[in-house]
Amino acid sequence: MRANLIIGAYAIAALLAACSGNEKPATEVAAKEIASGEIWPDDRGEHINAHGGGVMAYEGTYYWYGEHKADTTSSAYVGVTCYSSSNLTDWKYEGVALSVVDEPGHDIERGCVLERPKVIYCPTTKKFVMWFHLELKGQGYAQARYGVAVSDTPTGPFTFLRSGRVNPGLYPLGMTEKDVAAVEAIPAKSVEKWWTPMWYDAIDRGLFVVRDAKAHSDGHHDLPAGQMARDQTVYVDTDGRAYHIFASEDNLTLHIAELTPDFTAHTGRYVRVAPAGHNEAPALFRRGNTYWMITSGCTGWAPNEARMFSAPSIWGPWTQHPNPCRGPKAELTFMGQSTYILPVEGKEDAFIFMADIWRPRHPSDARYIWLPITFENDVPVVEWRDSWTLDFFE
Ligand code: DGJ
Repeated sequence: MRANLIIGAYAIAALLAACSGNEKPATEVAAKEIASGEIWPDDRGEHINAHGGGVMAYEGTYYWYGEHKADTTSSAYVGVTCYSSSNLTDWKYEGVALSVVDEPGHDIERGCVLERPKVIYCPTTKKFVMWFHLELKGQGYAQARYGVAVSDTPTGPFTFLRSGRVNPGLYPLGMTEKDVAAVEAIPAKSVEKWWTPMWYDAIDRGLFVVRDAKAHSDGHHDLPAGQMARDQTVYVDTDGRAYHIFASEDNLTLHIAELTPDFTAHTGRYVRVAPAGHNEAPALFRRGNTYWMITSGCTGWAPNEARMFSAPSIWGPWTQHPNPCRGPKAELTFMGQSTYILPVEGKEDAFIFMADIWRPRHPSDARYIWLPITFENDVPVVEWRDSWTLDFFE
């Protein structure tokens, strides 16, 4: 197996160095390789089980949070796992940071869908705040809720706070009462059929935003008031403000919603990005004064072509760019789907693109893609590399 090969190469290199008398000083340890798509063993020798995840840096340590995936189902039977590392290649299993619960009817009941967890640290409250996508047990993907949990320590245990839809009864920045009334006046019949020019126009004007602002039923489920929230990430800006970015409006449109100073709720301020663009899997970073977002299309667990957007402000306007991926299967995001973009601590302009290679028939065997982001004329490029080391950023 590849992982063994890599470890083998280290042992040989160390031996050769020792024999030649050219040993490096003890502090200079050769960086380990990052081989996307391969088995990534943790400190116990087990493949890391932290899918759809994100990495948070705190006091010199990286913490990787992700979905624990079972062998035969994508539903949550364990919860959110946590791993720690000081070098981004040796990962120690820290256990379950947020556990699903056995109480029937609980929001995070064992067997629910709990996806794409991300953790941010709030310096004001000194709490770690976890956001995730939640679907109530037995309801498919109908509820489209966010979930939020907090902890005093990075490894948890996190305490579940609540789940819900986002910004109930509230409309995006710039959408006036008059705009809302005009959308409400659109005859239902004229927009029954999706993907017609009239439907596109109505979606653009906020047809589903208006629908979801109030509690309603989809004919099968009672749905709470507020905007749908599925694939998601959170982002803390340089001024300390945090944002929740998620696929909303039946996965047609992304929303960027500001969080309160304690990072545990929405302030009510939000914008919509790429209406009817069908973007999932948002991953966001900032370089200088430009915000970049890499997303995927919507094809379930199957890979598709990544998309990229940029904006001069988190509030937009967001402009679409071509697919940033290069190399074999670049048109399918190297068979993966974006989940997070990790700024490397202490290095300027060093970002790692993180993606998941899903294995829906054997979810726990899903693999990871980590690739360095380079810049061509200040535009991000994600080029496939069979393996690379963090020395790349030196
Ligand atoms: C694609 C999403 O990106 C995943 O997180 C997951 O929700 C699957 N769809 C489910 O089909």
